Amino acid sequence: MNATVSQPEIRNQLLLRLIESRSVTDELFRIVRADALYDRPIPERHRIIFYIGHLEAFDWNLIAGHALGLGAAHKELDRLFAFGIDPVNGGLPQDSPSDWPRLSEINAYNLRLREGLDDIFARPSQPSASPWQYPEEVILNIAIEHRLMHAETLAYMLHQLTPDRKIVPRGYRTVDFHRPMPPIASRMIEIPAGVATLGIPRGGDLFGWDNEFEEHTVAVPDFAIGAHKVTNGEFLRFVREGGYDDRQLWSAADWSWIKEQKIAHPRLWFKRQEQWFYRAMFEELPLPLDWPVYVSHAEAAAYARFAGMALPTEAQFHRAAYGTEQGTEHAYPWGDAPPDAGLGNFDFERWDPVAVGSYPDGRSAFGLEDALGNGWEWTSSPFAPHPGFEPFPFYRGYSADFFDGKHFVVKGASPRTAASMLRRSFRNWFQPHYPFVYASFRCVEC
Ligand code: AVJ
Ligand code: FE
Repeated sequence: MNATVSQPEIRNQLLLRLIESRSVTDELFRIVRADALYDRPIPERHRIIFYIGHLEAFDWNLIAGHALGLGAAHKELDRLFAFGIDPVNGGLPQDSPSDWPRLSEINAYNLRLREGLDDIFARPSQPSASPWQYPEEVILNIAIEHRLMHAETLAYMLHQLTPDRKIVPRGYRTVDFHRPMPPIASRMIEIPAGVATLGIPRGGDLFGWDNEFEEHTVAVPDFAIGAHKVTNGEFLRFVREGGYDDRQLWSAADWSWIKEQKIAHPRLWFKRQEQWFYRAMFEELPLPLDWPVYVSHAEAAAYARFAGMALPTEAQFHRAAYGTEQGTEHAYPWGDAPPDAGLGNFDFERWDPVAVGSYPDGRSAFGLEDALGNGWEWTSSPFAPHPGFEPFPFYRGYSADFFDGKHFVVKGASPRTAASMLRRSFRNWFQPHYPFVYASFRCVEC
């Protein structure tokens, strides 16, 4: 890889975005009460305290360590906070709070790392003698997007904290919800056979993570897909009609998982006096029937089978969200204009969903509602490399560690997905038995 020095304006823009992304995550940690910082809201993940060190350690390891070869800031802490966990065999972390450094120690470490990085960036870039071993722009994009991804993974993690362990942020606006609406009628859209372009071309100016390369086309036979994501109201029928007790609807692995974990409804639903309620980020509501349902892949797949349908493949999602009758493809569902708050529920405008179909201006050419925003969408495609995949030499495991057939591609975006990750080629992935993500789904006829 050639070391290139970015244009000064581009570099300044990236540095500004890095600073903005730091304030996004700094604010997020203020939601956590001091006595909850060592909690583990998700059993499969590290305690919250890990992430406080992780964001800075990651930037230091990437920028100072890999890209500039400057060595460690603090040998032990750099390593302790280097990577998160995603156990695939059901094994859960067993550490205790006292295994982690104190907050004051981590804060001092973080401050030192940020100052160190800011010193590096304060030096003007010198095209003739660049110290960067990898393109500075790529490295900066990775630092920014890594942090913004954690702004989302932390949001759904902190969602799991009980209200007494959270602080409602200043300026919080109550959810867009008044009373349960009758379920809206599900409608299928016929998509003619055509081509879907996945990925981005190598060698262009577009930033993408390793798993987004390279660009290639996939022929997609005609199919029919739900105009909107499956709602809480629609999913309620599945719950009431015994979907969680119907062995036929579940794969063997999914069935053992829901029975072992005693899962009998979506994670954020709860029942009080025989009525269903919903745990939004900062409030409890009567179940909002017209919001997209957030569920695991296992629950999404069982619902699809119950409805006599299936989950879309990654290519089907692309075709329905970005394709057109004319055979051309758009950069975004609504066309080629960059994302804007009027086009979807994304980029931190809200903490929770809104009713499906609330953004007619964001509709895709084929009529898909909320293809970007208001909840990620599970696909039936196992997370796998695109043809021509190459891991980033400075972060080999980012995607490759998860090409194990045990993760599924997730497309679209949630209310807590940053604008920069709304590009068509962006791919997210999670295990099928992970009910915490802000992920919904829609069905295709099979
Ligand atoms: C791409 C969201 C699945 O959270 O595991 C953050 C992102 N990787 N730090 C994750 C990530 C390393 C990743 N996802
Ligand atoms: Fe990370």
